[in-house]
Amino acid sequence: MSDRALSALLHGLSGAGKSTLATSAPKPLLYLDVEMASRFLRGRKIKWNPLVEAPPVADGTWDICVVSLDEFAKAQKAYEYLKSGRHPFKSVVVDSISELQSKAVEQIKGRQQLQTQDWGKLLSVMSFFCRDLRDLAGTDDNIEAVIITAMSRDYDGIVKPYLQGQIASQVPYWFDITGYLYVQQTQDQITGEIKDVRNLLIGNHPNYEAKSRVPGLPTVIENPDITVMLNTIFGEDASQQVVAEAQAVVAAAAQDQTVSVPTGMPEPPSF
Ligand SMILES: Nc1ncnc2c1ncn2[C@@H]1O[C@H](COP(=O)(O)OP(=O)(O)OP(=O)(O)O)[C@@H](O)[C@H]1O
Ligand SMILES: [Mg+2]
Repeated sequence: MSDRALSALLHGLSGAGKSTLATSAPKPLLYLDVEMASRFLRGRKIKWNPLVEAPPVADGTWDICVVSLDEFAKAQKAYEYLKSGRHPFKSVVVDSISELQSKAVEQIKGRQQLQTQDWGKLLSVMSFFCRDLRDLAGTDDNIEAVIITAMSRDYDGIVKPYLQGQIASQVPYWFDITGYLYVQQTQDQITGEIKDVRNLLIGNHPNYEAKSRVPGLPTVIENPDITVMLNTIFGEDASQQVVAEAQAVVAAAAQDQTVSVPTGMPEPPSF
């Protein structure tokens, strides 16, 4: 049983930074790559095929272990290793759940359309998988973060994680945090340079699906980082604290020099 563990569902538009944020979780990190986009991720990577071999040993040569998830069975096999405890990972990322659901549909029906009776099966396969994974945050001594990403879609004026069928309304309840990630542009008052700033909305909002059951975090987290969030929630060791404080001073100085400008990107209105 681990006390230092967090589960989160991150949704946002394409390019918002979901994959980047998800992989800021503690390493060694298991990255279930359903979108085949891991080649763009920064960091030392290693590949793993759970259908044919055991997870790699954390020998210090890699930080991110990538499973190219071309079939749902690989996700299920990877979960078996996680559940058994025979793995080196501190974090597990599914990128993305929207795409993973398409793999589950393929497993059930191949490339054919789902029939009415198939929807119940899809719901149960996906909800068991998501909740089993979520439960690792809290039951596995080593796992500190379970992070699931999703594309965002507008459902009658509310931007929510995109999933087909009933699961779309259920999935936000399963995680400690459901966050909407968005980009805001700010202008440096001295140089005039415009730069992107990432924000993660985790508080209730009428137009964006977001929530948090975690105390101690602001409603909107600027420049979010999962490892920093874990340290904020659960505390950190003294050496990390010195680094974090130094980073906070630099960030605050940078912040002083910037003002928000309109971007055209959808942004949650201020509270
Ligand atoms: N915090 C950040 N600081 C600087 N650049 C970032 C940050 N987060 C993301 N980026 C950059 O923005 C681009 C998009 O990021 P990323 O791939 O993580 O987005 P995404 O939401 O996963 O997109 P997609 O929906 O297409 O998968 C990348 O070039 C990435 O390097
Ligand atoms: Mg991505």
